Amino acid sequence: MIRIALVVGSTRPGRRGTAVARWVLDTAATHPAVAGGRAVLDLLDVADFQLPLLDEPVPAAFGAYTRPHTRRWAAAVAAFDAFVFVTPEYNHSFPAALKNALDYLYAEWQDKAAGFVGYGTSGGTRAVEQLRQVMGELRIADVPTQVALSMFADFTFTDPTDPTQPGTCTPAPHHADALSRMLEEIIAWSAALAPLRAQAQPLPA
Ligand SMILES: Cc1cc2nc3c(=O)[nH]c(=O)nc-3n(C[C@H](O)[C@H](O)[C@H](O)COP(=O)(O)O)c2cc1C
Repeated sequence: MIRIALVVGSTRPGRRGTAVARWVLDTAATHPAVAGGRAVLDLLDVADFQLPLLDEPVPAAFGAYTRPHTRRWAAAVAAFDAFVFVTPEYNHSFPAALKNALDYLYAEWQDKAAGFVGYGTSGGTRAVEQLRQVMGELRIADVPTQVALSMFADFTFTDPTDPTQPGTCTPAPHHADALSRMLEEIIAWSAALAPLRAQAQPLPA
């Protein structure tokens, strides 16, 4: 079974990230691989880990974690074979909280597959493009198909003039098709990378 983490990358109060994650979980539950038990998706919310700005003395690639919050985050990420990153676009990039969470670890990301669900005024596409640059350095294999949700077309707001409203995530049907294709790619690539993950040597403590 392929264990996929649904990483929620925004952490602000009133964020729309949780509504997007809920839509992903509900929609993915009907995917044949998930419904048939070949894959499982679990929420991995960056906000739950209360990570301060990176405070490890040694870069993560050395694997010398010293802080309890790092070890907790590392154990959570290590438990998965693949990732779906749910990311908004902040100033044409992805949230600093997500970059911080990525920078904390190294081996735990390696030789795993990932896909993206972006959202924003332009589907979060610029955020995802930047995230793809980071994936290479972390040795995460990012699949080509992505979901791009528009703040204007794929959310419902009772008062569109109120910017504090989280709203509900109500994507057009083609986004469910894209999510399904993306999950197929993630599952296939993650399975293909399994021998590399099995060979990985534990880093010195
Ligand atoms: C600091 C900040 C910067 C933003 N910059 C952009 C942007 O450059 N492009 C865009 O499409 N949306 C931008 N937005 C709008 C967000 O994509 C939108 O508010 C989204 O709901 C934020 O995700 P969150 O609710 O999960 O925090 C920005 C929002 C914030 C808070």
